[in-house]
Amino acid sequence: MLLSSIFQLFLFLSSFSWTAFGSKEDVVREFFANNGDSTLTGSTHTNNWAVLVCASKYWFNYRHMANALGMYRTVKRLGIPDSNIILMLADDAACNSRNKFPANVFANPGRALDLYGDNIEVDYRGYEVTVENFIRVLTGRMEPSVPRSKRLLTDDRSNVFVYMTGHGGNEFLKFQDSEEISAHDIADAFEQMYQKKRYNEIFFMIDTCQATSMYSKLYSPNIFATGSSQVGENSYSYKNDNDLGVSTIDSYTHYVLEFMEGINKTSRTTMADLFDSYDVKAILSHPGVRDDLFHRHLNETLITDFFGGVANVEVSSEHVVHGRPDNIKSAPISREISSDQEKPMPRRQSPIPSNSREPGGSKWRTWGSCILVGTLVGWVTLTK
Ligand SMILES: *[C@@H]1O[C@H](CO)[C@@H](O)[C@H](O)[C@H]1NC(C)=O
Ligand SMILES: *[C@@H]1O[C@H](CO)[C@@H](O)[C@H](O)[C@H]1NC(C)=O
Repeated sequence: MLLSSIFQLFLFLSSFSWTAFGSKEDVVREFFANNGDSTLTGSTHTNNWAVLVCASKYWFNYRHMANALGMYRTVKRLGIPDSNIILMLADDAACNSRNKFPANVFANPGRALDLYGDNIEVDYRGYEVTVENFIRVLTGRMEPSVPRSKRLLTDDRSNVFVYMTGHGGNEFLKFQDSEEISAHDIADAFEQMYQKKRYNEIFFMIDTCQATSMYSKLYSPNIFATGSSQVGENSYSYKNDNDLGVSTIDSYTHYVLEFMEGINKTSRTTMADLFDSYDVKAILSHPGVRDDLFHRHLNETLITDFFGGVANVEVSSEHVVHGRPDNIKSAPISREISSDQEKPMPRRQSPIPSNSREPGGSKWRTWGSCILVGTLVGWVTLTK
């Protein structure tokens, strides 16, 4: 009786010491935290994603498709790969029989720039573009059969740019002319993403009538948003193309894209610069910005934190000799572990329990195992 309870005690202790595997995780976490700090703006993301939605169908909404395709072209040019872009187009203007220029979608009246081209991957098209599918993409609640290319495979290190365009009103956006998504739906979807650790930061942009109402209900942290028009105000299209017979793009998106043309992968231009560039007279509506949920200053948030693919590398000044393990210095690793206490932790706690950050874990594990084996042998001998 006594022996078996001692045995259980040791079993408990040794299994406890087995959980002390976390020091390597700490090093990795430190690595990314340091990298984030070294980008000056303090963003700690390690990957970028974009969700671009055109919610309108029909030929006369050509401009909404051009809006989304213009954003697609821009995020791709700035480095987000197709694998990290979810493009949802509710209709296919390029293949519409009324399109005088088949397989082309132009963003400007002079038809200087074809947005469609050969190098485009539409992930959800036509009747696949539904409120349900959009929310499933955001929250990651998918049937197992849904292919990888249709999934938003983000984590808590992902910066996500969400762009939406279509016809809307006060706190809703029409999908497919048959259903609507409400401002509450979007707010709740973002909250689910937050709870499921599916983002680091979100930049939400919307071009529709009364656009600012669509982000008025957001309540999850680390999100900032902008929209083309205030409540009670319409958003307007840019110019008509006389050959196509429709307007090619919306005014707000046109000016945002024009601003983005001046940005490249190394630009230090900030979100505040973008928002300062809004010209009410040109856009014809009053764009809004919301940043009360966001933890950084917009004047210190780079545009490329959202419109670009990150590729962080760390250059070590340490001289490392390969092939002779005793010469490889372990100094940087132990420094990072010892400085762990002074450094502020990342905002969100990782699932690793805090007792795992004990550097002597492997020693305890060895002792725990020895004692466990000894006890087992003793117990077996005694019970015989
Ligand atoms: C990026 O743009 C800046 C000016 O905005 C320019 O100085 C720089 O050369 C550009 N870099 C590349 C790689 O084009
Ligand atoms: C950004 O704005 C805040 C106040 O809004 C100010 O304290 C900070 O110094 C500004 N940062 C830069 C880089 O201008």
